[in-house]
This record gives sequence, C-alpha cells and structure tokens, in this order.
Amino acid sequence: MPFSEPGKTKFQVDLRRHLRNQGICDNLIHLICEIAEAGKYVINAVRTGDLGVAGTSNLYGEEQLALDVLSDRIIRKRLIHSGVVCNIASEEMDEIFQAQADADGLYSVAYDPLDGSSLVDVNLAVGTIVSIYEGCNLLQKGRNQVAALYILYGPRVSLVYSVGKGVHEFTMNHLMEYTLSRENIVMKPEGDMYSPGGLRNKYQEGTEKFVRYLEEKGAKLRYSGGFVPDINQVIMKGKGIFMYPALNGSPNGKLRLLFELNPMAFLVENAGGAATDGKQSILDLEPQSLDHRAPVYIGCKAEVAKAMEFVSGN
Ligand code: F6P
Repeated sequence: MPFSEPGKTKFQVDLRRHLRNQGICDNLIHLICEIAEAGKYVINAVRTGDLGVAGTSNLYGEEQLALDVLSDRIIRKRLIHSGVVCNIASEEMDEIFQAQADADGLYSVAYDPLDGSSLVDVNLAVGTIVSIYEGCNLLQKGRNQVAALYILYGPRVSLVYSVGKGVHEFTMNHLMEYTLSRENIVMKPEGDMYSPGGLRNKYQEGTEKFVRYLEEKGAKLRYSGGFVPDINQVIMKGKGIFMYPALNGSPNGKLRLLFELNPMAFLVENAGGAATDGKQSILDLEPQSLDHRAPVYIGCKAEVAKAMEFVSGN
C-alpha cells in the first residue's frame, strides 16, 4: 500500500518503518538498518578521509586505498555487532569471515564496501553494494538472496533496497535519516540509453555489433565508471542497459558475481528489468569461488534480450 496519496501532504517514511511493512522478520529489519547506519560513517569517510593508498592489496591483486580498508572495517564491525550474521564476505577480504557459527535464524552477507573508490579523488559518485542470504552459505545462486541493497554516495546519499517485494529508494535528509523518496520502482520495457564498460577495442564481435545497433537506434551513452551510480541511473530513469562484457583477453569481464552482479541483478529484476551474462540470468549462475566474475548485460528487459541475441553468436 502506498504511504501517501497523490495531492496530499507527504509525511516522511523512514527506512525502519518501511521495512516493518514488508512482512519480514525482525532480524532482517535489524540487519538492513545496521548496514544503513554503517553507510553514514562510510559517507563521512568518503567526504573527509585520507585519499591515499593503504599499502596493501586485496585478493584480486588490486591496490587497496585507505578508504577501501576503512569502509570495509566500518561495515564489517557493524555486521559483527548486529548479532544476526553468520558469515561475511567482502571484496576487500581474502576469505570468508565467520561472525557466528550457528546458522539458525542468522544471515550471511557479501558486500563491496566502496565500489568505484578510485573515483573519489576526482569527486565522482561511489557506493556500497550488499547482498544478503539466509543461513551460512554464501556460495549460492543470487536468486536465493533474501535482500539486496546499495547506498549511493553522490551529491545526495540514497539507499535502494529490495526484499523481493518491489524496489524502494530512500534519500538521506539533513538529519542523516533515510526517508522514502520512491516506492515500488518499475522500469520500462526498453529505453534509449546505454552504459558500456571495458575497452571497446577489446569487445568481441557480438558485443561490438550490439553497441552499433544501440548507436544506430540513437541510444545515448551515459557511463560514469562507477557501477553503483551507473546502475542507479538505469533503475531510476527506468530505461537503458549497462554492460561490462567479455573482452578479448578477459572472457569473464571484470565485475564480481557475489559482490556486484548478484545484488544488482536482484534489484533490477525486482524492478521489472533483467540481467544476463549473455547466456543465462545472472541470478541463476552457480558461484564457483569468492572471485567468480562474469560478463553482464543488465537493464530493461527488451534491451537485455537484444543483447543476448547479439552476443550468443560470440
Ligand atoms: O569494479 C569496480 C568498478 O570501478 C565498477 O564500479 C565499474 O563499473 C567498473 O569497475 C569500471 O571499470 P572500467 O574502468 O574498466 O570501465
């Protein structure tokens, strides 16, 4: 049920109140609210923290920024103290961290604490991405997620979540409270916008043909280089497609299934869109490891179907 009728003065609906209306259990409400709270410390770090390198690298050999390490610590601490989390995996940690052993009534969380962190020093938008499962198993299909969310740190801070019953956006107000700004977001079946990741001269033939098809039909190129703002644009405008395809030399593209693709695919599918690796739905992929990567085409249903047509010939 909508919280306000058109034409009537809107009262502010906060995140916890909205979650209570979703018919989910108290532990999950508590967990999502704890993650939202952690986001307030992450945005503070993004706005004022050290922009230097941490002197360490992550599991993928990428140099960690001080902000990556700090954001990871902020979120991990909050998850551990929530008391409702069993296993934790982060893009910045080498292995799964066990917060509690017993799976009963607990959740496991995979997250990317500060996706696109290298964009902070040029003042572009970045975000936190979170995927939540029941029990202790983190290596399962994305379709089994019970919730997914991202927090976007842009000119405004917004949090977009789904527990499988619609996709909802909250915007941080001057008191740092998350208040409902869009409810039950629904994407259009197709749209005239595309966000192409990766070097074009490394695109495989099918992807190159797909991009030419998009250009010929007049689609606008809109790519910031930050996965969270780029996906947020597709969901909020309700149109277009984001892709990070297989590249010559990188057949699995760049983006990680657990930390990036599954949570975003869950959100986009719940908003009426689709996400594929070119052959099957992202949410049906069986993760082989924490580092599982896959090509992705994600956005409006018709565009994603068209992408599959083109790249299946790759
Ligand atoms: O995975 C990190 C990330 O920065 C994403 O946020 C973004 O979509 C992608 O990498 C950008 O990669 P590239 O710089 O190759 O376009």
